[in-house]
Amino acid sequence: MQHLTFSNGDLIPSLGLGTWKSKPGEVEEAVYQSIKLGYRHIDCAAIYANEKEVGNAIKKAILEGIIERQDLFVTSKLWNNAHHPEHVLPALRKTLADLKLEYLDLYLIHWPVAQDPESQFPKKPGDFISLNEISLSDTWEGMEECHNTGLAKHIGVSNFNQSQIEQVNKNARIKIEMNQIELHPYLQQNDLVDFCLQNKILVTAYSPLGSMDRDEMMKKENEPILLESEVIKNIAEKRKMTPAQVLLRWAIARHTIVIPKSVNPKRLKENLEATNYELDQGDIKAISTLNKNYRFVDGSFWTIEGSPYSMEALWGE
Ligand code: A2P
Repeated sequence: MQHLTFSNGDLIPSLGLGTWKSKPGEVEEAVYQSIKLGYRHIDCAAIYANEKEVGNAIKKAILEGIIERQDLFVTSKLWNNAHHPEHVLPALRKTLADLKLEYLDLYLIHWPVAQDPESQFPKKPGDFISLNEISLSDTWEGMEECHNTGLAKHIGVSNFNQSQIEQVNKNARIKIEMNQIELHPYLQQNDLVDFCLQNKILVTAYSPLGSMDRDEMMKKENEPILLESEVIKNIAEKRKMTPAQVLLRWAIARHTIVIPKSVNPKRLKENLEATNYELDQGDIKAISTLNKNYRFVDGSFWTIEGSPYSMEALWGE
């Protein structure tokens, strides 16, 4: 398994298991099987509402001697309703209790969006708190506290654009170490990826396979299907890989970390084996032509009428 390296020398496996959209009834077995197959990196979040089951699987794998805690890299994310600096550490403690872990390897601010502590997912303007009231730097102070207590070995962000990163890092005692963003051939975000890598910020690619199991309300009409791209399918055929493996190998080739979600044993294995293949410069060049700045997760749920958030501010576009 390939790794990338944090500034302090700690390693993160380049391929991990995504758990967004994995249902409580299926995620426990999927995480347990993935660890048996050789996955050593699990990506979680409080809002996925399945951390207890993920924790059961990790605990079982440790009790059975399949892994030791230090062999596994576990990430989780702070939900929008705990952005107040005094709410960050308690939110981390709740996630740790659910995951049955003493510490996280990485804790991320899930979105640059703040919500009322009482709201899970915003339904009305009053569910939002503007960044003028709780700034991203305020929340980052809470993240630094998580790091200082040793409960989160590394801290970072998710869905942040360049100016949000610069703004937080300007005042930060501990700099952002990771930005987890949507990345795949239809949304390559070369400028943001280059900016992060040049500033020693690692990058994780979410929705690398196009997240076709998203809720219907998150889908637009006539969405492009990444796994059915002719360019991807041709490379897969030529290299005796599957289309999913091409997408995952491409993400690793551009020095990002990739977290495909699966709850299916065959596909879990297939995805992990993507790391055994190589793509050449011709393949990479062909894939680079596919970019269409297409977001499968476009953040429109943060910009309902009356919300203080806008798509322009969110994506810095
Ligand atoms: P399943 O969980 O049944 O395997 P993403 O990681 O972009 O969010 O995509 C996840 C979606 O892709 C899920 O629907 C998942 O289904 C499916 N998937 C995961 N691995 C593969 C694969 N190797 N080939 C095809 N579909 C896959």
